[in-house]
Amino acid sequence: MTNKADDNTDWLSPAALKPVFDGRSVLVCISGGIAVYKVCTVVSRLAQAGADVTVCMTKAATEFVSPITFQALSGNPVYTSSWEHIESSDPQHIALADRCDVALVAPCTMNTLSDLAHGKTDSVVTLILSAVDRKRAPVVLAPAMNDGMWRQPSNQRNVEQAIADGFTLVGPGDGWQACRHVGTGRMSEPEEILRGLACALGNGGGGA
Ligand SMILES: Cc1cc2nc3c(=O)[nH]c(=O)nc-3n(C[C@H](O)[C@H](O)[C@H](O)COP(=O)(O)O)c2cc1C
Repeated sequence: MTNKADDNTDWLSPAALKPVFDGRSVLVCISGGIAVYKVCTVVSRLAQAGADVTVCMTKAATEFVSPITFQALSGNPVYTSSWEHIESSDPQHIALADRCDVALVAPCTMNTLSDLAHGKTDSVVTLILSAVDRKRAPVVLAPAMNDGMWRQPSNQRNVEQAIADGFTLVGPGDGWQACRHVGTGRMSEPEEILRGLACALGNGGGGA
């Protein structure tokens, strides 16, 4: 698990991001939490660094930020359904899983974390991720939820299972939450997430 960026690199700067992400295919999977707004920065910085960014969103995620925002920031179509084949007649979830170099789930809700830990494929996000070979393309989860949700025994079991299954976690951090609690479960900031992705790709030091 990585937490706060502990080196001196500015992981929001093009100078740090371009050497790592230029020409890389990054799948950004978004589930339904209030922290979706922070992922706009992540997608924008990846695109500016030259990454080919594909965004997929659960139905709940689209309640927080419109897919149009991520389409504009990434410059690519956004996948919001397992049943719409935007680019080709091939099964989109296999093609997207095969072509990504690294995948991010941010925010990763309690529900999506549970689905990943249990091998469920009901949303477009979990369906695509079910086909990603994590030995080839690391999958980084950035959990985000209320502190009480984070501490639930079921959630803690799912975290342990996800780690045992080869997912990498960035955060969560401590602090102010949108539900007006202060505690653990706050999604990591964009620079910590970008550093985590870089580490997962074997850059940035430390190994996420
Ligand atoms: C205003 C609002 C904020 C929410 N924020 C979170 C959150 O931060 N983390 C979380 O795990 N669930 C949150 N939820 C609940 C999820 O949206 C809900 O469990 C949903 O079914 C998740 O589906 P998904 O994992 O397919 O996106 C929130 C719900 C609402 C209405």
